[in-house]
Amino acid sequence: MVEIDTSKPHPARMYDWYLGGKDNYPVDEAMGRQMLALDPRVPVMARVNRAFMQRATRWLAEHGVRQFLDVGTGIPTEPNLHQVAQQIAPDARVVYCDNDPIVLAHAEALLRGTDEGVTEYLQADVRDPDAILEGARKILDFDRPVALSLIALLHFVSDEDGAHELVGRLLSELPSGSYLVVSHATADFTPEESQAATEKLKAAGVTLALRSREEFTRFFDALELVEPGVDVPQLWHPELGEPIPGQDDGVIPGYGAVGRKP
Ligand SMILES: C[S@@+](CC[C@H](N)C(=O)[O-])C[C@H]1O[C@@H](n2cnc3c(N)ncnc32)[C@H](O)[C@@H]1O
Repeated sequence: MVEIDTSKPHPARMYDWYLGGKDNYPVDEAMGRQMLALDPRVPVMARVNRAFMQRATRWLAEHGVRQFLDVGTGIPTEPNLHQVAQQIAPDARVVYCDNDPIVLAHAEALLRGTDEGVTEYLQADVRDPDAILEGARKILDFDRPVALSLIALLHFVSDEDGAHELVGRLLSELPSGSYLVVSHATADFTPEESQAATEKLKAAGVTLALRSREEFTRFFDALELVEPGVDVPQLWHPELGEPIPGQDDGVIPGYGAVGRKP
């Protein structure tokens, strides 16, 4: 029996609320509304982020990647990463991972992939990269390239918890030709609203570790950035998907990038 804590907001469920999903509780909606009061574009940001994941996955599958490790998967929202990858490469192998019990409760929906492909779910915390590597290794062949995606995840991991180090640890076990995909919220464009959001979430027990462009780029230090490098997520290969309504009406305070392990 999966235990869901409805006494405080959870990022996965707030994100589901922004996306118009049904898998959230009053406590998530209440905090979501507080975020909207600070910036009414939060739901657009969530959609832009989701669309970035889809375009990056499409790009990777079109460039021959057949193995995906997605940490901080979230509650299923179609199309999910495996559906994008397996539409291009039906034999793609996908391992999903999240630490929130509500994602575990919905994992079934993530596991309906193609017959040729493989889709698995791992319950683990990104702050324990060794557990993720151990679980993923059972499904993925670490002698062949793996795309590691950490989409809208790392801004929930503080420097004290070693955000950069744990990304380095995950990448250290992946072979040359593997990729890292990251999207991340930043305070660079809207410092006051971002500060207020960080404080409100902290008071509710949620860590928000917003990072500057430079701090974001450090995740890719050992990698070769894929064109166009680090930019706001909607400008990363926009030709690979449809624009999100409202995406150009104001700032999207985040960064997205893809890097290749040499
Ligand atoms: C904003 S959602 C993003 C979902 C999906 N990656 C996307 O971009 O559409 C962030 C996800 O990260 C998960 N998460 C937060 N902290 C985590 C941690 N320490 N370990 C694993 N997952 C975590 C949350 O449970 C949530 O599902």
